[in-house]
Amino acid sequence: MKIAIVSYSFTGNNDKFAASLASELPATHIRITTQKPFAMKSIVLDMIFSRTPKVHPHPDSLQQYDLILFVAPVWMGNVASPVRAYLHALQSKRQAYGLLSISGGADGENPKLMAELLKRTGASPAIVLDQHIKDYITLDSPPTRQDTSAYKISDTDAVRLSENAIKEIKKLIAPV
Ligand SMILES: Cc1cc2nc3c(=O)[nH]c(=O)nc-3n(C[C@H](O)[C@H](O)[C@H](O)COP(=O)(O)O)c2cc1C
Repeated sequence: MKIAIVSYSFTGNNDKFAASLASELPATHIRITTQKPFAMKSIVLDMIFSRTPKVHPHPDSLQQYDLILFVAPVWMGNVASPVRAYLHALQSKRQAYGLLSISGGADGENPKLMAELLKRTGASPAIVLDQHIKDYITLDSPPTRQDTSAYKISDTDAVRLSENAIKEIKKLIAPV
């Protein structure tokens, strides 16, 4: 089975997690880049106005894979906007896909992810695993949004995140 790990990251966490996951599975790791440089302002505007930024590589380049696992942050309760073009492209294909994320989690779960994926692709994801930075930070008080947004995952965190993900992926496909 040909698996692609397709990652987008604004501050590095999801790319680091994706790199560890791709080497452990193994799978091909493809990093999404945006045509225009991305800034905090772009994130907020994309989320408010439901914009889909232009990205590289072209979504059609993923046709050869049997399973596409997107690894990307959650922004304002939604999947990061650079993933949208790939989700829309899945509407016309019958490819299995999933979403894995290391998001902040300071405000609890991100309950809208499943519905968003279904709406954008027209098909249910094979897997959704949203892991939270709040569970990786040790502080005297519960981590705030500022704490989670500032946190950069370590190599050890990336391995732990991938091990958790692989346990779930193995339930889908055996052997991986
Ligand atoms: C504008 C913005 C909005 C965010 N919204 C959420 C959110 O709704 N839920 C959440 O769990 N984390 C949220 N986060 C935290 C990110 O998902 C988290 O910091 C993630 O690890 C960043 O991934 P990256 O380093 O790959 O860009 C948000 C971060 C930013 C910058």
